[in-house]
Amino acid sequence: MDIIKCYDIFKAFGDQNVLNGVNLNIPKGKITVVMGASGGGKSVFLKHLIGLLKPDQGRILIDGNDITRLGRRELMEIRSRFGVLFQGGALFDSMNVYDNIAFPLREKTTLSLKQIADKVKELLEQLKLTGMGDKFPDEISGGMKKRVALARALIMDPEIIFFDEPVAGLDPIMMWNIFGLIKSTHEQKKYTAVIVSHDIPHIFSIAEYVAMLHKGKIVACGQPDEVISSPLKEVQSFINAEKWHNNQVEYEKN
Ligand SMILES: Nc1ncnc2c1ncn2[C@@H]1O[C@H](COP(=O)(O)OP(=O)(O)OP(=O)(O)O)[C@@H](O)[C@H]1O
Ligand SMILES: [Mg+2]
Repeated sequence: MDIIKCYDIFKAFGDQNVLNGVNLNIPKGKITVVMGASGGGKSVFLKHLIGLLKPDQGRILIDGNDITRLGRRELMEIRSRFGVLFQGGALFDSMNVYDNIAFPLREKTTLSLKQIADKVKELLEQLKLTGMGDKFPDEISGGMKKRVALARALIMDPEIIFFDEPVAGLDPIMMWNIFGLIKSTHEQKKYTAVIVSHDIPHIFSIAEYVAMLHKGKIVACGQPDEVISSPLKEVQSFINAEKWHNNQVEYEKN
C-alpha cells in the first residue's frame, strides 16, 4: 500500500521552476530513497511532504488526506505522526542532548518525568549516546548530532520519518553507523522512511524503493536494482558521477 501519493506537484520560487510536475507514490513501511543532484529540489520536495511548503499546483495525499488543503490545526495533527531529521540537524543549541530528545514528549504528551526519562535513556542507549545527555550540541561531533537528531525524530514513535541527507559530511565509518541505526530502528518500529540523499552508491544498501528527481520530475522509480540498471542516460550519468565523486573523496582521505 502507498502511504504517500504525490500528483503533479509544481513549485517555483520567482522565475525559478524547482518542481515541474512531480508524481510519486511512496510505499508504506518501507525505506524509500529520493536521489538527485545537489540543488535539484530534494529538500524543497521533502518540505512539501511535511507541509512546510505549499505547491503552486498539485496534490499530496498522506493516508488519503490532501495535506495541501488542510488548515493549520489539521496539518499539525497529521504532522504529529511524522518524525523529521532536517539536513542541518536543527537541534536546539541552548538545550542539552537530553532536553533536545525529551522536548517533543514534554510538549505533546502527558507522560510523567520518570516515563520521559526512561524513554530518553532507552533511545540514548540504542543510538550509542549513553552518557551524552548533559552535553550541548556545540560540544559534540557532527556524527553525534545526527544521532541526537535521529533520536529526537524517533522519540514519538512516528509512522513516517523524513530524513534530509542523514549522512552528508560524515566519514565512512559514521555513515555506516547511521545507516545501521536507520536500518535497525526501521526493522524494530516498522516506520515508513523517506530519505533524501545523493550518497551514491552507499544509500542503495538500505533503500528498498528508489526514485530519482531530475529537472523537477521523477524520471525513474522502482526497486534499487531496477533503477541502477535503468537505461535512462540521466540516471546512469548521475549514478556514475556520484560514485566517482565519492571514490575520489574517500581516496583523498586515505
Ligand atoms: N525558500 C526558498 N526560496 C527561494 N529559493 C529556494 C528556496 N528553497 C530552495 N530554493 C531553491 O530551490 C532549489 C532547490 O533547492 P533544494 O534545497 O531543494 O536542493 P537539494 O536538491 O536539496 O540540494 P542539496 O543536495 O544540495 O541539499 C535551489 O536552487 C534553491 O536555491
Ligand atoms: Mg537538500
